Amino acid sequence: MTERETALGDLIIADQETLFQHLADQMGKVAEKAEDRCVIGLTGGSTPKKHYQWMVANGKLPEAAQQKAYWTTSDERMVPLSSDDSNFGNADRMLLQPLGIAEERKFPWPVEVDAHSAALLHNRKWAERFGAQRCFDLCVLGMGDDGHTASLFPGSPLLGAGVMDFFACVEVPGKGWRLTVTEAGLDASRAITIIVTGANKAERIKTVFNQPAGTYPVQILENYAPRVTWLVDEEAAALIQ
Ligand code: 6PG
Repeated sequence: MTERETALGDLIIADQETLFQHLADQMGKVAEKAEDRCVIGLTGGSTPKKHYQWMVANGKLPEAAQQKAYWTTSDERMVPLSSDDSNFGNADRMLLQPLGIAEERKFPWPVEVDAHSAALLHNRKWAERFGAQRCFDLCVLGMGDDGHTASLFPGSPLLGAGVMDFFACVEVPGKGWRLTVTEAGLDASRAITIIVTGANKAERIKTVFNQPAGTYPVQILENYAPRVTWLVDEEAAALIQ
């Protein structure tokens, strides 16, 4: 395992199991630090599925997180929770249910209404439940091979728009409507961890860490660098070792 400071945050390069263990440890740490509760936003996409399986198979959720964490996702697709494309639906089926997390600790996006209503509702319910000052205790993100993160894609109207809400809806060309944490939400999060694995991400990781800020959405993490941890496996880090 190697670890170094970068302009985009603390970069940890290791094998997948070491990365998964680091993320599990972080979940425990944020829960231990929290007075009564903490909110963890899991990432979407396919990368977390391997992490969920590993967490469940090895019983790796720390006790503090088991007891104090509320669970949601950092972005969501406008599909039913029952869909295989649902970020929260997958997290619930593959991690939260197998670990016996109580229903009242789950905080899915309200995808049963239209995207604009869902964003309004999520912001309102969040403020009522967790307060309007703080977003995630731990925001987990992924990175697409186009350099997007959460549902902040290249050319997104949300980027640099000064949106004050923690969460917003956005129509993504070719992908339909999405719900996502915003820059304001990231700025109000206590810790941000982005996990990137696989050789198909190596070229993008190289350009993200070497091209000027503002080239890819994921480079907004530079604005929160002291609170950002990059967990990158050896395949995805092959061109930046
Ligand atoms: C989503 C995600 C998205 C994801 C990246 C990486 O809803 O798709 O939140 O930001 O993290 O696209 O996805 P993979 O892990 O599938 O490569």
